[in-house]
Amino acid sequence: MKRASIIILFLLGMIILLTLLYMNDKDSNPNNNMKNDSTAVEEHTSTEQSNYRGIHIVTDIHDEALYKLAIHYPEFDNTSLNEAIREYITVSKQQFLEEVELNKPFLKENIAELNLSFDIYPVINNIYSIVLSNNSYVSGANGSQSSKVLIVDVDEGRYISQLEIIKDTIENRATIYKLLSKEFEQSEEYSIFFFQDYLKQWIDDNHPFSNLYLNNHSLVFKFDKYQVTAGAAGSPEISIPIDKVKTLFTDEWIEKLKINIDNMPEKPIVPSPTPSEGKEPATEVPSNKKRVALTFDDGPHPVNTVSILKLLEKYEAKATFFMLGNRVDFYPETAKKVADQGHEIGNHTWDHKDLTTLDHEEMIEEINRTITVIKQAIGQEPTAFRPPYGAMNDKVKAASTDLPIVLWSIDTLDWKSHDPEAVLKIVKSNVKDGSIILMHDIHKTTVEAVALVLKYLQDEGYEFVTVSDLKSS
Ligand code: NI
Repeated sequence: MKRASIIILFLLGMIILLTLLYMNDKDSNPNNNMKNDSTAVEEHTSTEQSNYRGIHIVTDIHDEALYKLAIHYPEFDNTSLNEAIREYITVSKQQFLEEVELNKPFLKENIAELNLSFDIYPVINNIYSIVLSNNSYVSGANGSQSSKVLIVDVDEGRYISQLEIIKDTIENRATIYKLLSKEFEQSEEYSIFFFQDYLKQWIDDNHPFSNLYLNNHSLVFKFDKYQVTAGAAGSPEISIPIDKVKTLFTDEWIEKLKINIDNMPEKPIVPSPTPSEGKEPATEVPSNKKRVALTFDDGPHPVNTVSILKLLEKYEAKATFFMLGNRVDFYPETAKKVADQGHEIGNHTWDHKDLTTLDHEEMIEEINRTITVIKQAIGQEPTAFRPPYGAMNDKVKAASTDLPIVLWSIDTLDWKSHDPEAVLKIVKSNVKDGSIILMHDIHKTTVEAVALVLKYLQDEGYEFVTVSDLKSS
């Protein structure tokens, strides 16, 4: 009896085991399908490569009555990574809109602003550090700044915790405290604003180093405003070369980074062709034709900008593209294509902050960083400047001395209506000789609008020129 029941139990166990194994196998099939799906999506949505393999940039810009917002965030081909970013974006936006709601009566004079932006740093292989930053102003002079660091392994499709990278021991905490104290004290920028007590507190609080990230040569600590310095220091960043802090790393990362310390991949040097080739202001025969300048802001976009280029080519139209530096950084090839087809490239700042809320140095940084990335991409500097939201004062004018500032005379509100017919209607009822028309090449619906606008204006006898050509004669 006993033996028989043992055998029965054994057989039952085997059946359960085999069933489980079979089900497991079945489970892995949808996974394979998903992999196939995601490659299909990738091929479908991006005709142009991103500069950061597996990552794209999404830009969302609004200019409302009481507030304006510019949101930029990374989107991964590996969709499982997107949730953490979207969560951050949604919460940040909600908090801002709640504050706007609370401060409504005070916002008529001083429009509120939210700028969510990010910087991306290649570490090794397909690992990137992403520093998300939140700058907002809701009534009153003092804006708030905060940041969040994410370290992502795109190939493995997961976020890496800082505690995987450095060993969290008492000795290491002491070392970090010493290093950071020294760096702050010796920093020209931060020393007078630095509070040593606050740093000590931060170390003792057992902070899990979630503000720490790597780039391809340094370990960087990013602090929030007021965290360890006075507000005037903004959000300080302390960068320490990796080979100076080797002892902090876990064995796994010593291994990973050592390989890289000896032969770090240098950023490829883009050969910069001699400027001013093929794009002379052209000694055109002055025509009696009515002229209009189409302008496209906030791009480039790897799909929509390219579609617009095709339409422009069809109508032999020249236009001006006011690009954002952070998007040129992702899509240098798209920017190059625009320039190669003879269109004018303008500077629209790095990440679309209202420049009137920045101090002089921040303003210069927004403008110059964009000039650099555009020059890297297309081989020449931008030839016009358009401040985000058209927001200007004397300081902005002074900061952009070398570039002509170009605003617009017709705002198509394409970003708001997403309606090609509505865009055409606005153009129809406002256009005249010399008009500068504002559109945004990041929206799919704008591509359709451009088709309608080009057709209509050509039939009306207009010629399509760049803003510089429009101004020069
Ligand atoms: Ni804009």
